[in-house]
Amino acid sequence: MKSSLALLLLAAACSGLLINGCAKKEADQGAGQAKGKEKVFVMVPKGVHPYYEPCYEGFKDAAAKYGVKAEYRAAKAFEVPQQVEVIENLIARHVDGLAISALDDQGLAPVIQEATQAGIKVITFDAPAPSSRALSYVGTMNEAAGYAGAEQLIKVVQGEGEVAVLQGGLGAPNLNDRYKGFERCLKEKAPNLRIVAREDEQGKIDLTVNKTEALLQAHPNLKAIFGVSAEVCPGAAAALKQQGKAGAIILAGFDDLPDTLAAIRSGVVSFCIAQRTYKMGWLSVEKLLDAIDGKPLPKEIDTGVLVISKDNVDTYMQDMKKEFAK
Ligand code: BGC
Repeated sequence: MKSSLALLLLAAACSGLLINGCAKKEADQGAGQAKGKEKVFVMVPKGVHPYYEPCYEGFKDAAAKYGVKAEYRAAKAFEVPQQVEVIENLIARHVDGLAISALDDQGLAPVIQEATQAGIKVITFDAPAPSSRALSYVGTMNEAAGYAGAEQLIKVVQGEGEVAVLQGGLGAPNLNDRYKGFERCLKEKAPNLRIVAREDEQGKIDLTVNKTEALLQAHPNLKAIFGVSAEVCPGAAAALKQQGKAGAIILAGFDDLPDTLAAIRSGVVSFCIAQRTYKMGWLSVEKLLDAIDGKPLPKEIDTGVLVISKDNVDTYMQDMKKEFAK
């Protein structure tokens, strides 16, 4: 009795109001079978760092759009062996695609080769590994961006003086290319604006604070500090404030971390070069899908940069996001 009642209810449901639900379920199952198993794409940043949050947001949003499973696996510190270990674990899991922000070129090439041989599609985003077998690089054209940073700094500093550069790790090609562009521009356009120091702060904000304090001691005539990586502006801003030198020493550098934007609003940071991090993540998913479909990928995809100062600090984000309908 009970079971016939249940059958009746089921029949009524499928022929009445719920028919759409039943039909939809079947259609979904059909689509699922046609698609095969769900693909897993993993974003591997250099290490734990807030810079990568919008990158992963773009990655996740694109993955949701295309029905891919997105994951994020970050090593604790910016250390090559740690990043290699993260990738080795993903190779062992046979994931379908990897988007890597490379801490190092030579150091990453063997594990990228291993992943490729295992049939995993690999691209780099944010930081390339040019000698590796990664299929493409999605991100900033770094030498040009470093050059653009220096051009902007020259406008702000006007004239001569001492500049110190802080960098988060000395191995990554993206940061070294930025430094190269920055240095070349000063030589070409403002030879009297001299780089008197270049310090490694390993991508750590506390180390950036310490290194800034040491720079202020060692170079009492310092005119400007420029950061080629994301933690520099927030870290150096904190140190300048502590020493009562905010605004007196010009501070500028890469990336639009929330603390950097706040420091632009309050005048402690003069400008930042914002990278299009959300776009990097989004395009990474699309390029990995293209690779799986057998389409050739361009060697490099330029995501572009923007100069953010007091003038556009409150409007640039809306403009940038317009490109992607969520
Ligand atoms: C770079 C990243 C780096 C981050 C934090 C950014 O400017 O593009 O490669 O991980 O700074 O140091």
